[in-house]
Amino acid sequence: MKILGTGSAVPKHTVTNDMLSEYVDTSDEWITTRTGIKSRQIITTERFEELAALAGQRAIEAAGLVPEDIDFIICHNVCNVYVTPSLAALVQHILGIKGPNCPTMDLNSACAGFTYGLDICDAFLQTGRANHILYICAEEVTRMVDWTQRETCVLFGDAAGALVLGKGDNMLASKLTSTPMPDVIYYRLPCEPTPFEVGEGIDTHKAMQLKGREVFRMAVASAQRDIREVVEKAGLQLSDIDHFILHQANMRILDAIKQNFDLPQERFLHNIERRGNTSSASIPVLLDEKIREGVIKRGDLMVFNGFGAGFVTSAAVVRY
Ligand code: UT7
Repeated sequence: MKILGTGSAVPKHTVTNDMLSEYVDTSDEWITTRTGIKSRQIITTERFEELAALAGQRAIEAAGLVPEDIDFIICHNVCNVYVTPSLAALVQHILGIKGPNCPTMDLNSACAGFTYGLDICDAFLQTGRANHILYICAEEVTRMVDWTQRETCVLFGDAAGALVLGKGDNMLASKLTSTPMPDVIYYRLPCEPTPFEVGEGIDTHKAMQLKGREVFRMAVASAQRDIREVVEKAGLQLSDIDHFILHQANMRILDAIKQNFDLPQERFLHNIERRGNTSSASIPVLLDEKIREGVIKRGDLMVFNGFGAGFVTSAAVVRY
């Protein structure tokens, strides 16, 4: 696998902490000190699938390709209004990528999803079943939360990040984990009622539930373990890594993680202050921003690390 191009897209409406305090009992001071978030982008008039496609189009352009060159589209998405068709199939339609020889599918591994999907893309490329994969992580997390629950709604933003991946040996190591703990973060959508449903509580809708402190502790512990293990698996030292690109969940989580590594702190990149937690989109959006700013250069070594509902975690060492 090799990253040929990246792209990202965020909604046009920026919501500051002060703006949020008009909807829920919160303050800029609480949100800033507990999370590091100052603002986030939230979908208003945009169509979610168009945001995802826009990120994809930018990645295709950055790779110097045209949509017809793409022979597989994989999207990672936790939730959007379309249960079916997949987001990947919708993106294929919007970008005008003709079938039938461009398969499409969606994945869902929550906030750890970016690296899960990257590993799957690598497998398809390694085995020669694809030449140019368009891989998009797109999330509208702000539509999964209850906007009367201040403990969750202030945390999230919407975004899409995309990569065009081609053949190469730049995925140096990866690690995926899952520990069954369905109660720490979950969101249940309503399904259609049937005349055969019996018992109580089946399919009860529940906006996102989050055991914040538990997630905080698990995220810090898993990141330290996964980052060390994956770097060792790649046959490298931590000091060889140029950029650590972690899931942007909370600045305090990122600070707690980086304090445990004796490394220059600026190697841990972040944009949570401007974007909020955008779930699986957070890593590819940050990656794209830092590539376009010139911070990440060809040949640089990067570690990706994520954690989220499941409880799932993932890490990879990738050369840009
Ligand atoms: O992508 C993975 C998904 N999840 C995460 O990454 C979340 C990880 N966890 C966290 O980021 C933190 O645990 C939170 C930011 C969610 C919460 O921070 P905390 O320091 O653990 O706060 P808390 O939940 O213990 O709440 C402390 C107080 C409570 O008041 P009392 O009981 O002490 O009077 C809350 O009611 O803060 C109150 N509170 C708020 N106050 C103002 C909770 N949310 C808010 C709010 N504004 N938005």
